[in-house]
Amino acid sequence: MAEKIDILLLGAGGREHALLKKLSESPRAGKLWVAPGNGGMLQLAEVAPVNQEDGDQVATWAAENGIGLVVIGPEAPLVAGVGDAVRAKGIACFGPSGQAAQMEGSKEFAKQVMARAGAPTAAYQSFTDETACAEYVRKLGGPIVIKADGLAAGKGVIVAATTDEALAGVHECFTAFGDAGNTVIVEEMLEGPECSLLALTDGTTLVPLATSQDHKRALDGDKGPNTGGMGVYSPVPILLDGELEQMTAIMQRVVDQLRADGITYSGCLYGGFMLTKDGPKVLEFNARFGDPETQVVLPRMQADLVEAFLACDNGTLSDVPITWGDDWAVSVVLTSAGYPGSYEKGKVITGIEDANAMDGVTVYHAGTALGENGEVLTAGGRVLDVTAVAPTFEAARAQSYAACEKIDFEGKTFRTDIGLKAILGRENL
Ligand code: AMP
Ligand code: GLY
Repeated sequence: MAEKIDILLLGAGGREHALLKKLSESPRAGKLWVAPGNGGMLQLAEVAPVNQEDGDQVATWAAENGIGLVVIGPEAPLVAGVGDAVRAKGIACFGPSGQAAQMEGSKEFAKQVMARAGAPTAAYQSFTDETACAEYVRKLGGPIVIKADGLAAGKGVIVAATTDEALAGVHECFTAFGDAGNTVIVEEMLEGPECSLLALTDGTTLVPLATSQDHKRALDGDKGPNTGGMGVYSPVPILLDGELEQMTAIMQRVVDQLRADGITYSGCLYGGFMLTKDGPKVLEFNARFGDPETQVVLPRMQADLVEAFLACDNGTLSDVPITWGDDWAVSVVLTSAGYPGSYEKGKVITGIEDANAMDGVTVYHAGTALGENGEVLTAGGRVLDVTAVAPTFEAARAQSYAACEKIDFEGKTFRTDIGLKAILGRENL
């Protein structure tokens, strides 16, 4: 049997708990470390005393502690080049280089790569001057989409129905996001249902994982403010023939283009697509696994995640078997009352074990911490991701909601319509 390796995973959300759990199930997994981790992750791993965005600190600590693989969950350390620092020490790393992570770190960079790769996406113009940008927006008029170029923690996109909203968005992008708003993109509004596709790649081979769909708005009926994601399912049942192949081909072209440009993209590439009447078009790329998409994709994936991640790093992904059953997964996010606005923390959570004991259910921790006596406490806006896997979409959905009822904490809040539109059909998605 191949030797075990010790692994350091960076991040603290539901995505990282799902990654950690899947990594822990590999026969190759040795001792597991996390930085910073959350209440659920601490049940599987020990905390490494490093700042996840400090590449030198992460790489030095990993070298001194015999780490054989560093897995980077969130975008900020990727864009900060933590992967480069780790690889410079000769340690395997899952996650793209700082340069390759510009696919997420700069929307303009991603648009330029897409143009060279012939990847369909919304028509756009970029601006570094607010007056010129506002003038252009007045000329085109709403509906139109305004985006801050850089990382803005999911807040830098304004989908404006009217010219006035768009102009307010232009001002916000140029003033509210620091350096991320030095460049602002104005783009055509696309229409259709959305679909996310995660793919693993070693820079040459690209293996699509399952499709999934997030629910970004806070309230039922896609009302209320945008959030980090309120629920998700996989696969997406409303794809038309050929759409998965088209999305995969677009992502492969992008990875090939980056390689031709001298940039090896290895890790997870997240394609956010709009399924327009002219075929799938790219809304955005992320340089990492999606959150909460990972919490429905990984439980359905049949693969040794440690082997797959090592293969992404060393260019042998085509050798790793990755297969899928025909089951379905639905995950409902339990949040603290008030999220995405202000909310309270430190509430005791009960019932997680009862929920986990249900058939097909896994509760991933997002914003939790362990109290002094080991009790699980709320510690964030998105608290838990309640995932159920079942042979049918309807069964997975019903089981996830049944599990949500077992869990309790003061202020527990969730959407009741996760996945409903998928059942109703394509025209409603
Ligand atoms: P992004 O972070 O670029 O994915 O944007 C966040 C959300 O804004 C997407 O999931 C879409 O719902 C919406 N969006 C982004 N770009 C467009 C576009 N060009 N047309 C319509 N909606 C968009
Ligand atoms: N669920 C959206 C994202 O991970 O960016």
